Amino acid sequence: MYTLGIETSCDETSCAILKNRQVLSNVTLSSLREHKKYGGVVPEIATRAHLVNLNRVVSLACHKAKIPLNRIDLIAVTQRPGLIGALVVGLNFAKALSLALKKPFIGVNHLPAHLFASFLDSNKRITFPFLGLVVSGGHSQIYRVDDFDRIKIIGSTVDDACGEVFDKVAKDYGLGYPGGPLIDKLFDSQKKLDFKFNCGRSGFNLSFSGIKTALIYKRIEIEKQGRLTRTMKQSLLSSFQYAVLERIIVLVQEAADKLKIRRLVCGGGVVANSYLRRRLKDQEKQGLKVLIAPKVYTGDNAAMVAGLGFYLYNKRRLSSNFSLEAQSN
Ligand code: KG4
Ligand code: ZN
Repeated sequence: MYTLGIETSCDETSCAILKNRQVLSNVTLSSLREHKKYGGVVPEIATRAHLVNLNRVVSLACHKAKIPLNRIDLIAVTQRPGLIGALVVGLNFAKALSLALKKPFIGVNHLPAHLFASFLDSNKRITFPFLGLVVSGGHSQIYRVDDFDRIKIIGSTVDDACGEVFDKVAKDYGLGYPGGPLIDKLFDSQKKLDFKFNCGRSGFNLSFSGIKTALIYKRIEIEKQGRLTRTMKQSLLSSFQYAVLERIIVLVQEAADKLKIRRLVCGGGVVANSYLRRRLKDQEKQGLKVLIAPKVYTGDNAAMVAGLGFYLYNKRRLSSNFSLEAQSN
């Protein structure tokens, strides 16, 4: 079965074609360059870029997969959460295509799609329940997943998402946007304890806005003393990354113990982080079976959307009708 996936929830216009769970093509065009000078994604610019690019990206995905549009059996599209204008472009495109091709479409939730990224290009059986961890620019959540349509949120960030706080701190330190990969590169494990920073928590919920403010105040203080060298920045940002990511590791350990679930599936942009990947894998020593999305599928992409759509349509007999509306949260 061939599934066309469409993802337009933020700044990436992405289309993919899957044969069952195998990715035949996954084409992503980002409008990131247009947002850089604003230090973050501007919704209006992202929406217009999707309008301009979507048609071309679909054609490219078909061309790369060597599958013409009329051989597509199912269209899967991100319906939520995301920038509302950006989502509307993708969803309406999917509806129009569904009408024209007389093929079913299914709107999917972007967050479990990040988890599904771990099951792409594989025939492995998906075993439930598992703990799901999504850490991205817009979300930091941990779930109990009994099936892909039976998901319960166990914990969430109460303010800034993990990737968002990487981006904001990097911006304040003059590193550029997006900040996550830049801090990842700068991270030096020898310097991770040079400063002691903390993240807030309440039960399984996390708070990252306090550590963000602490980093900003520290930068101002050290800059006033004329000590803000590159090495000093590296110490501060290594200590920051260590504090944030170790907090996530503790959250995973505690959730696994409390729920007595020994399987963990991880996805989302921040899961590209080298230190986090290593620490998540370390949990196998504690008896957790850990699946981490391949780096190519951690950021926003249509392959994960197509994969989840394929699964829900085939295994759960789900599809959408034309009254389906985009949802920002
Ligand atoms: O999943 P994603 O592509 O978009 C959302 O759904 O939000 O995640 C983007 C986020 C950005 O905040 C970016 O800084 C962060 O993922 N990110 C990273 C790394 N690569 C991307 N954060 C830490 N380390 C990385 N290597
Ligand atoms: Zn995402």
